[in-house]
Amino acid sequence: MMKPLLVLRRCSSLPCPRPAAPLLLDFLAPSALRHRQYHTTPSYQSTSPAAQPTSEGSKPKYVLNKQQREFLDSALRVNQAGELAATLIYTAQTPQVVRSHPHLRPLMKHMYDQEKGHLTTFNHMIAKHRVRPTAMYPVWEVAATFLGWSTGVMGREAAMACTEAVETEIGSHYNDQVREILSWEADAKSRGEELDDELKEMLPTFRRIRDEELEHLDHAVENDSKEAQPYDPLVNVIRLGCRAAIKISERV
Ligand SMILES: [Fe+2]
Ligand SMILES: [Fe+2]
Repeated sequence: MMKPLLVLRRCSSLPCPRPAAPLLLDFLAPSALRHRQYHTTPSYQSTSPAAQPTSEGSKPKYVLNKQQREFLDSALRVNQAGELAATLIYTAQTPQVVRSHPHLRPLMKHMYDQEKGHLTTFNHMIAKHRVRPTAMYPVWEVAATFLGWSTGVMGREAAMACTEAVETEIGSHYNDQVREILSWEADAKSRGEELDDELKEMLPTFRRIRDEELEHLDHAVENDSKEAQPYDPLVNVIRLGCRAAIKISERV
């Protein structure tokens, strides 16, 4: 986890370099330029308004418009920040929860390992697609560690209520992304086009991660998250915080 994260942290203090715009005189050779863009930038970031030509026999590729590209950039930025927060929450909670409930060690490790895998996935995606990480990175690091530590101190039920609250918001956030990409897929189909391979790969990845987050939610409820005291204010505050963090990370 650490190596790509360090790269991203360096990136967060400075604007991430985007690939330089081609210097070709594109009005002289637009088809050559389109071909070049397709192969030198992540294809969903292509700026061409038309469907991209593909090898003979396959359907033309669906090209995202500006709004769709911005949606995807924001989604990847939020996902990476959220997964970082998740690993830090479990890191801060686990020693306290496990000290009083040693039987939860395998479960806590299982959930942490999955979060670490999610973070690695989004570190990779954000670097590959040259998406700017959130500038709020240091703030989220402190906030997530504090949230994990404080709910861990409150006890097992509060720690599980924290997981329940976070996963409710994050699960629904991933669901929105899956729904959006599916709508693009339907749009592409109606035009006789198909999604780019990278977008096609994102869909099952987002679905798998969403399902794992919802699995964490189930584990939390099975382990008495609803017994946390005071349950409602605790869960509501954490859910509100998650929604605010998502909104801010989409833009900042
Ligand atoms: Fe996760
Ligand atoms: Fe999770």
